[in-house]
Amino acid sequence: MRIAVLTVSDRAAQGAYEDESGPVLMELIQEHFHQLTDLYHICSDDWREIKRALEKWCDDAHMDLILTTGGTGFAPRDVTPEATRAVIEREAPGLVHAMLTASLQKTPHAMLSRAAAGIRGNTLIINLPGSPRAARENFLAILPALPHALELLRGAGADAHALEHPIDAAERERQERDISD
Ligand code: MTE
Repeated sequence: MRIAVLTVSDRAAQGAYEDESGPVLMELIQEHFHQLTDLYHICSDDWREIKRALEKWCDDAHMDLILTTGGTGFAPRDVTPEATRAVIEREAPGLVHAMLTASLQKTPHAMLSRAAAGIRGNTLIINLPGSPRAARENFLAILPALPHALELLRGAGADAHALEHPIDAAERERQERDISD
Protein backbone atom coordinates (compact mmCIF):
# COMPACT_ATOMS: atom_id res chain seq x y z
CA MET A 1 0.00 0.00 0.00
CA ARG A 2 1.38 3.40 -0.93
CA ILE A 3 0.14 6.15 1.35
CA ALA A 4 0.88 9.89 1.28
CA VAL A 5 0.14 12.79 3.63
CA LEU A 6 -0.15 16.36 2.38
CA THR A 7 -0.33 19.12 4.97
CA VAL A 8 -1.88 22.28 3.57
CA SER A 9 -1.00 25.32 5.64
CA ASP A 10 0.55 28.70 4.79
CA ARG A 11 2.08 29.03 8.24
CA ALA A 12 3.54 25.54 8.34
CA ALA A 13 4.89 25.93 4.77
CA GLN A 14 6.62 29.18 5.80
CA GLY A 15 8.10 27.48 8.85
CA ALA A 16 6.24 29.88 11.16
CA TYR A 17 4.54 26.95 12.83
CA GLU A 18 5.49 23.32 13.20
CA ASP A 19 3.15 20.94 11.41
CA GLU A 20 1.43 18.73 13.98
CA SER A 21 -1.46 17.19 12.05
CA GLY A 22 0.78 15.63 9.37
CA PRO A 23 2.79 13.70 11.99
CA VAL A 24 -0.44 12.71 13.79
CA LEU A 25 -1.73 11.17 10.55
CA MET A 26 1.58 9.41 9.91
CA GLU A 27 1.38 7.89 13.41
CA LEU A 28 -2.18 6.73 12.76
CA ILE A 29 -1.10 5.17 9.46
CA GLN A 30 1.70 3.31 11.23
CA GLU A 31 -0.67 2.17 13.98
CA HIS A 32 -3.52 1.03 11.75
CA PHE A 33 -1.82 0.07 8.46
CA HIS A 34 1.44 -1.16 10.02
CA GLN A 35 3.56 0.77 7.59
CA LEU A 36 5.39 4.04 7.13
CA THR A 37 3.98 6.91 5.09
CA ASP A 38 5.59 6.87 1.64
CA LEU A 39 5.36 10.59 0.89
CA TYR A 40 4.91 13.60 3.15
CA HIS A 41 4.94 17.23 2.09
CA ILE A 42 3.80 20.59 3.42
CA CYS A 43 2.41 23.07 0.91
CA SER A 44 0.84 26.49 1.25
CA ASP A 45 -2.86 27.20 0.82
CA ASP A 46 -2.37 27.76 -2.87
CA TRP A 47 -4.85 26.14 -5.25
CA ARG A 48 -2.25 25.44 -7.98
CA GLU A 49 0.34 24.10 -5.56
CA ILE A 50 -2.14 21.70 -3.95
CA LYS A 51 -3.47 20.55 -7.33
CA ARG A 52 0.05 19.99 -8.69
CA ALA A 53 1.06 17.91 -5.65
CA LEU A 54 -2.09 15.77 -5.88
CA GLU A 55 -1.70 15.16 -9.62
CA LYS A 56 1.97 14.23 -9.24
CA TRP A 57 1.26 11.84 -6.39
CA CYS A 58 -1.60 10.17 -8.30
CA ASP A 59 -0.14 10.04 -11.81
CA ASP A 60 3.62 9.73 -11.26
CA ALA A 61 4.02 8.29 -7.75
CA HIS A 62 0.93 6.04 -8.01
CA MET A 63 -0.21 6.44 -4.42
CA ASP A 64 -3.09 4.26 -3.26
CA LEU A 65 -4.22 6.79 -0.67
CA ILE A 66 -3.56 10.50 -0.20
CA LEU A 67 -4.70 12.16 3.02
CA THR A 68 -4.66 15.94 3.04
CA THR A 69 -4.97 17.93 6.25
CA GLY A 70 -5.98 21.58 6.45
CA GLY A 71 -7.56 24.22 4.28
CA THR A 72 -11.08 22.80 4.35
CA GLY A 73 -12.76 25.63 6.29
CA PHE A 74 -14.29 29.00 5.46
CA ALA A 75 -11.19 31.22 5.59
CA PRO A 76 -10.50 33.01 2.28
CA ARG A 77 -7.43 30.88 1.58
CA ASP A 78 -9.08 27.54 2.44
CA VAL A 79 -9.14 25.95 -1.03
CA THR A 80 -8.08 22.33 -0.46
CA PRO A 81 -11.55 20.97 -1.44
CA GLU A 82 -11.55 23.02 -4.68
CA ALA A 83 -8.08 21.75 -5.64
CA THR A 84 -9.17 18.20 -4.79
CA ARG A 85 -12.37 18.44 -6.84
CA ALA A 86 -10.28 19.69 -9.76
CA VAL A 87 -8.23 16.47 -9.81
CA ILE A 88 -10.68 13.74 -8.85
CA GLU A 89 -12.56 11.83 -11.53
CA ARG A 90 -15.14 10.20 -9.27
CA GLU A 91 -16.47 11.57 -5.98
CA ALA A 92 -16.69 9.56 -2.74
CA PRO A 93 -19.46 11.36 -0.86
CA GLY A 94 -20.00 8.51 1.61
CA LEU A 95 -16.63 9.17 3.19
CA VAL A 96 -17.41 12.87 3.59
CA HIS A 97 -20.80 11.99 5.04
CA ALA A 98 -19.25 9.59 7.56
CA MET A 99 -16.71 12.21 8.66
CA LEU A 100 -19.40 14.85 9.08
CA THR A 101 -21.75 12.56 10.99
CA ALA A 102 -19.04 11.45 13.42
CA SER A 103 -17.62 14.95 13.80
CA LEU A 104 -20.98 16.53 14.58
CA GLN A 105 -21.12 14.28 17.64
CA LYS A 106 -17.93 16.03 18.79
CA THR A 107 -18.52 19.67 17.84
CA PRO A 108 -21.03 21.80 15.94
CA HIS A 109 -18.01 23.42 14.25
CA ALA A 110 -17.74 20.20 12.22
CA MET A 111 -20.25 21.74 9.82
CA LEU A 112 -17.58 24.28 8.89
CA SER A 113 -15.48 21.66 7.14
CA ARG A 114 -16.05 21.64 3.36
CA ALA A 115 -13.94 18.50 2.88
CA ALA A 116 -14.05 16.54 -0.40
CA ALA A 117 -13.09 12.94 -1.14
CA GLY A 118 -12.75 11.12 -4.41
CA ILE A 119 -10.82 8.94 -6.78
CA ARG A 120 -8.33 9.76 -9.52
CA GLY A 121 -7.17 6.71 -11.42
CA ASN A 122 -6.44 4.16 -8.70
CA THR A 123 -5.79 6.77 -6.01
CA LEU A 124 -8.22 7.69 -3.24
CA ILE A 125 -7.86 11.29 -2.02
CA ILE A 126 -9.46 12.35 1.26
CA ASN A 127 -9.49 15.85 2.78
CA LEU A 128 -9.24 16.06 6.56
CA PRO A 129 -9.45 19.23 8.65
CA GLY A 130 -6.30 20.97 9.84
CA SER A 131 -6.20 20.73 13.63
CA PRO A 132 -4.42 17.61 14.93
CA ARG A 133 -7.47 16.61 16.97
CA ALA A 134 -9.89 17.12 14.09
CA ALA A 135 -7.58 15.25 11.68
CA ARG A 136 -7.45 12.30 14.08
CA GLU A 137 -11.21 12.26 14.72
CA ASN A 138 -12.02 12.39 11.01
CA PHE A 139 -9.45 9.72 10.14
CA LEU A 140 -10.91 7.39 12.78
CA ALA A 141 -14.43 8.01 11.42
CA ILE A 142 -13.56 6.60 7.99
CA LEU A 143 -11.03 4.00 9.13
CA PRO A 144 -13.57 1.12 9.32
CA ALA A 145 -14.21 1.40 5.56
CA LEU A 146 -10.72 2.30 4.35
CA PRO A 147 -9.19 -1.18 3.93
CA HIS A 148 -12.15 -2.34 1.83
CA ALA A 149 -12.14 0.90 -0.18
CA LEU A 150 -8.46 0.46 -1.02
CA GLU A 151 -8.95 -3.22 -1.78
CA LEU A 152 -11.71 -2.35 -4.26
CA LEU A 153 -9.52 0.27 -5.95
CA ARG A 154 -6.57 -2.08 -6.28
CA GLY A 155 -8.81 -4.89 -7.42
CA ALA A 156 -10.05 -2.68 -10.20
CA GLY A 157 -6.89 -4.04 -11.43
CA ALA A 158 -4.77 -2.73 -13.43
CA ASP A 159 -4.93 0.78 -14.55
CA ALA A 160 -8.06 2.77 -14.00
CA HIS A 161 -6.49 5.60 -16.05
CA ALA A 162 -6.71 3.33 -19.06
CA LEU A 163 -10.45 2.96 -18.55
CA GLU A 164 -12.77 5.34 -20.27
CA HIS A 165 -14.25 8.01 -18.01
CA PRO A 166 -18.02 7.45 -17.52
CA ILE A 167 -18.84 10.89 -18.96
CA ASP A 168 -16.64 10.26 -22.02
CA ALA A 169 -18.31 6.86 -22.49
CA ALA A 170 -21.80 8.42 -22.34
CA GLU A 171 -20.78 11.08 -24.88
CA ARG A 172 -19.27 8.45 -27.19
CA GLU A 173 -22.48 6.38 -27.01
CA ARG A 174 -24.56 9.49 -27.76
CA GLN A 175 -22.42 10.29 -30.81
CA GLU A 176 -22.63 6.68 -32.04
CA ARG A 177 -26.44 6.83 -31.70
CA ASP A 178 -26.54 10.14 -33.64
CA ILE A 179 -24.49 8.63 -36.47
CA SER A 180 -26.66 5.50 -36.74
CA ASP A 181 -29.94 7.56 -36.70
N1 MTE B 1 -14.10 17.87 13.00
C1 MTE B 1 -13.82 17.24 14.16
N2 MTE B 1 -14.04 15.93 14.25
N3 MTE B 1 -13.29 17.88 15.23
C2 MTE B 1 -13.04 19.23 15.19
O1 MTE B 1 -12.53 19.77 16.18
N4 MTE B 1 -13.09 21.26 13.79
C3 MTE B 1 -13.88 21.97 12.79
C4 MTE B 1 -14.11 21.21 11.51
N5 MTE B 1 -14.15 19.78 11.71
C5 MTE B 1 -13.33 19.93 13.96
C6 MTE B 1 -13.87 19.20 12.89
C7 MTE B 1 -13.44 23.33 12.50
S1 MTE B 1 -13.33 24.37 13.85
C8 MTE B 1 -13.20 23.80 11.23
S2 MTE B 1 -12.96 25.44 10.95
C9 MTE B 1 -13.26 22.89 10.08
O2 MTE B 1 -13.18 21.54 10.50
C10 MTE B 1 -12.23 23.17 8.98
O3 MTE B 1 -10.93 23.01 9.46
P1 MTE B 1 -9.67 23.39 8.55
O4 MTE B 1 -9.91 24.73 7.94
O5 MTE B 1 -8.52 23.38 9.50
O6 MTE B 1 -9.52 22.34 7.49
